[in-house]
Amino acid sequence: MGRFDGRTVVVTGGGGGIGGATCRRFAKEGARVAVLDLNLEAAQKVAADIRDGGGKAEAFRCDITDRKSVDAAVSATVEKLGPVDVLVNNAGWDVFKPFTKTEPAQWEKLIAINLVGALHLHHAVLPSMAERKTGRIVNIASDAARVGSSGEAVYAACKGGLVAFSKTIAREHARHGVTCNVVCPGPTDTALFEDYKQGAGNPEKLVEAFTRSIPLGRIGKPDDLPGAILFFASDDAAFITGQVLSVSGGLTMNG
Ligand SMILES: NC(=O)c1ccc[n+]([C@@H]2O[C@H](COP(=O)([O-])OP(=O)(O)OC[C@H]3O[C@@H](n4cnc5c(N)ncnc54)[C@H](O)[C@@H]3O)[C@@H](O)[C@H]2O)c1
Repeated sequence: MGRFDGRTVVVTGGGGGIGGATCRRFAKEGARVAVLDLNLEAAQKVAADIRDGGGKAEAFRCDITDRKSVDAAVSATVEKLGPVDVLVNNAGWDVFKPFTKTEPAQWEKLIAINLVGALHLHHAVLPSMAERKTGRIVNIASDAARVGSSGEAVYAACKGGLVAFSKTIAREHARHGVTCNVVCPGPTDTALFEDYKQGAGNPEKLVEAFTRSIPLGRIGKPDDLPGAILFFASDDAAFITGQVLSVSGGLTMNG
């Protein structure tokens, strides 16, 4: 028996590095997984891999910045897989530049994806969770939200906003049996981190510097994240809400 047998889990950015690893782990533990991504081909690949391995998954194209697209993907999920028990807001994007070199159009895109996107998903899914008096939300922020990160000012502001938003949702919906917690990855080897390295100009030096400053001595892998995400989504975390957990090899240590 799996921890998530019979539960429907939505993962945004499910076609990406951390999202794909998270979808696969949920499916392995019995969940019906809705893999949502702007990149439908990537989402379909993850869903097909899960089905090939005997799990249950469906891919849906979803642009989290567009409320109509979010509503359509959530409706399709409910129709095919059942009411949403777990929501993981994982989709994200970044540009890596000192703040004064960025333009307002980039800020708008960063805010739309990294903050407003998650708001759309909460707004689409929470009423049904509240009505059913059960639900788990796990939001993927970043250590940048906790300690800042050069070249990521607006991204860090969005992720910090997501942390504050999550704590408020945790308070507003505790009486409905819905928990909301946050996982903060550190540098993790995915497409997003590859862009970060290229944006920094000297990728090898950057990886060396990060590796030196991470107490556990390496860059993260996508498979380092699902353990914490599934924990917050599980029954073991029934009495935990509004919390923030870094999964970053000790890069940041918060009391
Ligand atoms: N990789 C890191 O070093 C790192 C560090 C801290 C936080 N994070 C966070 O982890 C999460 C996952 O990132 P990742 O590293 O796996 O990156 P990734 O690039 O591998 O995956 C991100 C996914 O989000 C999808 N996406 C982007 N815009 C979207 C939109 N508008 N609608 C729907 N989907 C969209 C992309 O298509 C992609 O599949 C993000 O929230 C990111 O900010 C990553």
